[in-house]
Amino acid sequence: MDRDQLLKLGGKLDEVELVEYTDPWPVKGTKAEKRAERAVAAWFTLAGLSGLAFIGVFLWWPWEYVPATSDQHWLYLLYTPLLGLTLGLSILGVGVGVVMYAKKFLPHEVAVQQRHDGPSAEIDRQTFVAHLADAGDRSTIARRSIIKRSALFGAGAFGLATAALPLGSLIHNPHKDSTNKNGLWHTGWLAEDGERVFLRRDTGDPHVIELVKPEDLDAGAMETVFPFHAPKNSSGGVDYAKMEGMLAGTERVDEHELFEALRRSDNPVMLIRLRPEDAKRVIKHQGQEDYNFGDFYAYTKICSHLGCPTSLYEQRTNRILCPCHQSQFDALQYAKPIFGPATRKLAQLPIQVDTETGYLYARSDFNEAVGPAFWERKS
Ligand code: FES
Repeated sequence: MDRDQLLKLGGKLDEVELVEYTDPWPVKGTKAEKRAERAVAAWFTLAGLSGLAFIGVFLWWPWEYVPATSDQHWLYLLYTPLLGLTLGLSILGVGVGVVMYAKKFLPHEVAVQQRHDGPSAEIDRQTFVAHLADAGDRSTIARRSIIKRSALFGAGAFGLATAALPLGSLIHNPHKDSTNKNGLWHTGWLAEDGERVFLRRDTGDPHVIELVKPEDLDAGAMETVFPFHAPKNSSGGVDYAKMEGMLAGTERVDEHELFEALRRSDNPVMLIRLRPEDAKRVIKHQGQEDYNFGDFYAYTKICSHLGCPTSLYEQRTNRILCPCHQSQFDALQYAKPIFGPATRKLAQLPIQVDTETGYLYARSDFNEAVGPAFWERKS
């Protein structure tokens, strides 16, 4: 039996009655048909171009944060909208192309079939396959090479665009190299070439630099601080004269660096001054016995669960609370988790007082990565 006969037989056996079955283009090769073909191809082409544009933006657009004071800021602002726009257009192109093709080129069929129970017989299966093959033929896709090519291009680029997201981070992993100062291993507290990094408060104006002295905090108080990299003199030590000028606003400063210090997500640190009676009960972590300065303890503000800011310090119980999923950390026991989903302690910053100026500074970066777990993390 050939396919047409199988088709008819299948219809009869399944009690399918074709009420309407019209070819949308009974006269082949008309101008209208060509126009419809080009319209479908245009949508698939749009999908392809947008998919390629998405990959281009994803790989090469300047995505790193640029402060509003820079003339490159607008480029940074466009990154996320462009990703959304290009991927959205690609999805739209594929979707509209497929719907349009079905509307313009598939035969308009209205069929009525009686329902019956149980599995299909062998003959039913054969006729069903014949139906599918026939539908493929009658869709005329085989002879519409412009649509075939553009659909392949559109769907291919769209597929690549969706694969670029998960694959991109495997191809270029900025956190693999533990010496990369912008990777997850280090924070803005990293001191390079012996420079001194002081504790700075956020005054609300990124241009105003205010450093913290121990006497600035009452017992039981907590303040969020950020790194300030002091200028160096020719012998590699702190250039105190220049630093005082920067604090007074009379010396030139690197505005980008000042701004970045307040914005970098792993920079915020909680500086806590314990009450003297609580300080006597402190249990220190092995290897971090000298990380505090007197009653002053500095812990990262980035929660070890999922990275929210652990902004709440309860003076009475000495607990640090994360508002996201209610993890609690004990400030008297090296900020170890005592409640909630967090399983790792908050990283502690080693601090000391600069004898020349009396300002608090960080003796080094954290001795472990801050925030939640990631693949390469061992601790
Ligand atoms: S992010 Fe802090 S508890 Fe989940």
